[in-house]
Amino acid sequence: MPSKDERRLRVGVLGCGQIAQAAHFESCAKARNADLFAICDIADDLRERMAWTHKPEKSFASYDAMLADPDLEAVIIATADAFHVPAAIRALDAGKHVLCEKPLGVTVEEAEKLREVAEASGLVLQVGHMKRFDAGIQAAKAFIDDGMGELVALKAWYCDSTHRYPMTDATQPLIVRSAGARRPAEDPKADLRRYFMLAHGCHLIDTARYLGGDILAVQARLAERGGMRCWFVDVDFASGALGHLDLTIAVRMDWHEGFQAYGRGGSIIGKTYNPWYFKSSDVDIFHEADGTTRRVLGADGHFYRRQVEGFADTILNAAPMTGANATDGVASVRAMVGISRSAETGRPVALSDASGGV
Ligand SMILES: NC(=O)c1ccc[n+]([C@@H]2O[C@H](COP(=O)([O-])OP(=O)(O)OC[C@H]3O[C@@H](n4cnc5c(N)ncnc54)[C@H](O)[C@@H]3O)[C@@H](O)[C@H]2O)c1
Repeated sequence: MPSKDERRLRVGVLGCGQIAQAAHFESCAKARNADLFAICDIADDLRERMAWTHKPEKSFASYDAMLADPDLEAVIIATADAFHVPAAIRALDAGKHVLCEKPLGVTVEEAEKLREVAEASGLVLQVGHMKRFDAGIQAAKAFIDDGMGELVALKAWYCDSTHRYPMTDATQPLIVRSAGARRPAEDPKADLRRYFMLAHGCHLIDTARYLGGDILAVQARLAERGGMRCWFVDVDFASGALGHLDLTIAVRMDWHEGFQAYGRGGSIIGKTYNPWYFKSSDVDIFHEADGTTRRVLGADGHFYRRQVEGFADTILNAAPMTGANATDGVASVRAMVGISRSAETGRPVALSDASGGV
């Protein structure tokens, strides 16, 4: 049994689909300061099987019924992207804290609305950008903030692999699906440009913002050939640092994700693994002052469990939020919209002007 704190956050997971099965149920069960209190899914077969397997205290077919439970303290929203904002607003209205899967929303306007509701509620809203709980990426962030001095340039790349399913099938639990699962009216994969940006682009953008800070403007080019989609993006960081992002779905090789940062007092080279290997990024941090390179091991690579623990710490102990907050979630949606519009028009886009959907 995992060792548990005395006071634990009572979490309910909305959605018993792929990400709940592969990450959130186990994360709540293993978290030192949270419990899997409830699960909810409209699909009876899926919910009953997950209730039997994961043994939450309660299981609900109706989201409203779960939210009405006075013992429930927080919700993880693990549904299709199009449902995130309405589901998060209902939870906040019911007085529950929210950990919302990424991306926060699918349009700038709905994401901004959710941020307003969250801020007015006084409750915690965290976005499921779990890479912020990768110890290697956290070490890079700590050096950028406290040791590297002025950041000059940051490059980041996220290239899915054509071989990703054999990789993830080997390490994830067997995912159970249901014909009764609730899906958005519009098939999220009907437009693959949009789908890849929402599913993968938001991770790349959040890592770039986590390390490089706010993004003011983007200029993007998109190549669609050879069965690949490749976005190359020039980024203006608010700090004045230069940025370059590469989002490619999918490269004909291993999963390829990482970043480089150049600063006055050092440099960083990071290699990030497919998340389902639960391995912290290999991040080499070169310290100009003493000529050494250091790399944290990050033995605990369970980003999803660490994400729940960070969320619970913020709620239970008023610890500073280490995950992505509502402002980060909105900024990520703005950047996805900006990159999409820039690739379509060939012009740079100021993210303050970004509007509409990805
Ligand atoms: N952070 C990551 O690494 C990561 C990885 C994969 C997916 N995701 C995100 O997780 C989210 C969910 O993806 P998925 O593939 O698990 O989705 P999914 O469609 O497989 O599962 C969602 C489940 O939610 C249920 N549901 C939806 N609305 C409901 C409602 N109102 N009441 C009751 N049940 C409801 C559906 O019936 C379905 O079973 C997406 O936003 C995706 O971007 C994140």
